[in-house]
Amino acid sequence: MDVYDAVRTRHSVRAFSDRAVPREVLERVLAAAAWSPSGSNLQPWHTFVVTGEPLSRLKKLAVERVVAGKPWDEPEYTMYPPELASAYRERRHAFAEQRYGALGIARGDLEARQRAAIANWDCFGAPAALFCFVDREMGRPQWSDLGMYLQTVMLLLRAEGLHSCPQMAWAKVRTTVTDIVQPPERLILFCGMSIGYQDAAVEAARTGRASLTETVTFIDS
Ligand SMILES: Cc1cc2nc3c(=O)[nH]c(=O)nc-3n(C[C@H](O)[C@H](O)[C@H](O)COP(=O)(O)O)c2cc1C
Repeated sequence: MDVYDAVRTRHSVRAFSDRAVPREVLERVLAAAAWSPSGSNLQPWHTFVVTGEPLSRLKKLAVERVVAGKPWDEPEYTMYPPELASAYRERRHAFAEQRYGALGIARGDLEARQRAAIANWDCFGAPAALFCFVDREMGRPQWSDLGMYLQTVMLLLRAEGLHSCPQMAWAKVRTTVTDIVQPPERLILFCGMSIGYQDAAVEAARTGRASLTETVTFIDS
């Protein structure tokens, strides 16, 4: 698959079929993604791949916890600035409209939105997930390395006919994740990622993007 096609066809899938993802495919993708760049080649990502019975257990524990309304875990990092400035605020609003509008959820129906969000902790039905951790002492440059790595994983998954959804939602229940994956104490969970084959019967919401002039400046004269 051409890189442009991988970029164009990657989107956050929120409805997966239960078709299993072969372990050798995940190994091939993760071995290739290991060639992602990182400052001084630190390779600061720590990836845990969870499938089969452990993933079923994790999903069950997480969904039960969220449905029961138990409090979120204390955050280890700030997901968004408390006051989003324009144009970020409008983009976030537009995304929520697209995401929940596609599910037929009316504007302002926060309860229905919350119910839909619970699918996060069922990995949207995906049979595989990865959890990406980083050392507590690492700074912004290393966190940005994680982003490059995760995007490389997602593009390579496209080359294998697979789809994904990166999910910070997992950080809200990070202790449930660590109960299952048992990472070393020094690691912080950045995000999870659901991985699988898209459920073709479910129409996916496609997001838009800001125009190039909003985000890119060419300085050439
Ligand atoms: C770091 C990161 C965390 C995200 N967390 C979630 C999440 O918890 N749940 C979710 O449904 N989507 C999540 N997303 C997906 C974004 O909503 C999505 O990438 C964005 O709206 C653009 O849509 P697209 O990926 O379909 O192009 C996350 C994306 C990123 C990069």
